[in-house]
Amino acid sequence: MVDFDLHFPAGFLWGTATAAHQVEGGNTNNNWHAWETSGPGHVFENQQAGAACDWWDGQRYLEDFDRAAEMRNNAHRFSVEWSRIEPEPGQYDDAALQHYADMVSALRARSMEPLVTLHHFSNPLWLEKQGGWTNETAVGHFEQFVARVVEALGENVTLWCTINEPMVYASQSFLTGHFPPGKKNLVSTYRVIANLLRGHAAAYRAIKAQQPNAQVGLAKHQISFKVNRPQLIHAPAHDVIRHFFNRAIIGGLLTGKLRLPLRTFRVPEAKDTLDWIGLNYYYRFAVGFHPLYPQQFFIRQSRPKTGILGPESVGEIWPEGLFEHIRWLSDVTRKPLYITENGVADPDDTLRPLHMVRSLCSVWQAINYNAPVKGYFHWTLVDNIEWSEGYDPRFQFGLHTCDRETQERAKRRSAELYGEICALNAFTGDMAQRYVPDQFDELFPGVDVQANVPLDSPDKRQTNEMNRI
Ligand code: BGC
Repeated sequence: MVDFDLHFPAGFLWGTATAAHQVEGGNTNNNWHAWETSGPGHVFENQQAGAACDWWDGQRYLEDFDRAAEMRNNAHRFSVEWSRIEPEPGQYDDAALQHYADMVSALRARSMEPLVTLHHFSNPLWLEKQGGWTNETAVGHFEQFVARVVEALGENVTLWCTINEPMVYASQSFLTGHFPPGKKNLVSTYRVIANLLRGHAAAYRAIKAQQPNAQVGLAKHQISFKVNRPQLIHAPAHDVIRHFFNRAIIGGLLTGKLRLPLRTFRVPEAKDTLDWIGLNYYYRFAVGFHPLYPQQFFIRQSRPKTGILGPESVGEIWPEGLFEHIRWLSDVTRKPLYITENGVADPDDTLRPLHMVRSLCSVWQAINYNAPVKGYFHWTLVDNIEWSEGYDPRFQFGLHTCDRETQERAKRRSAELYGEICALNAFTGDMAQRYVPDQFDELFPGVDVQANVPLDSPDKRQTNEMNRI
């Protein structure tokens, strides 16, 4: 019997994360609906979100929040859908706002802290018609929308996430063309990144004007990279892409200067607009210089051939990467950090328990290096629509399944594991034995379970980890 416990700090938030378009259903007034219905080829098998998880008309968020409560979650991250709240510019829908206020009350009634995301990939059609985030007027529109949401949800929400994954949104929508409006244009990509940063800053101030004590942050998707060999040739490409994807926005938030390859934008209003930083983490890619990819700064990403392998189109699943990203983000921002998303696409639930354990060991290690991690939000509560991947079964990220025809849910085994972890605020040797018995030695090669460092003791160990990412 392995006898050890990896304890998490008192007050640690345990939850899952969701996004409006992916779970609500019936969102027909946004850019994603337009994209889904204007295919072919935009979404896997030309699918549409349809009723999704029926959180809107059928109010099935209530039963799913029960599932979260059953997993002993004390928090939940969800997003509000701009196109519902403001269906036409300047026209606000009070019933939609009330729906979100009800969701917040439902969470509070289950003793769960709401973390509300204000922008998660979807835009109202009217905004899209004005050029979306390529047009700087989006910033003012977003500011007014945010002010209205904060007014409606009031003091029941104090944890706000302004924008989900600005770099993913900008590059998928304007560089790779996988998201609407499906463009491949570097100039637009840059403009969008700058405007999202401005939008974040405007939202930060709009929230603080009403709620000076609110905690406002942003969810940043970080990718781990491996440099192709020979490193001498490929390292510069790695440095460019790592800066572009992982670091430029963070630099903008810290200094007010958004330094993108070959162009710097001054966004002074973004400086000091972060109370916490959110980390979304999934994959590692191999990168190197390639003469045939000028549009991607001559950089080619491929998936390394090792690690836990998920669906073909994604990178290597390498949970240990969490450690380096937590360390770097908390070191440079000096702010509390939430893991705002982390999970794995795994319909059979064969990888998920191991992935969860390896991820949480990484988080625990970072905490023991004094990183101020305040919570972990697993992606996701129930299977839902995965953007351009649609309802492709290979992209099922849920702790629970969701049958699209019947709306029936079933609990995956990893939901049981997550429930045990959340209930104890710890991962124990007993859980390891029961959920991942075959992988124990492989799992804990670097974790000295005997020398469990107390959480409140300053850890003097030095690492050059920070310089490696
Ligand atoms: C997004 C989610 C998405 C998840 C899994 C994240 O980048 O924020 O909306 O479902 O990845 O791919």
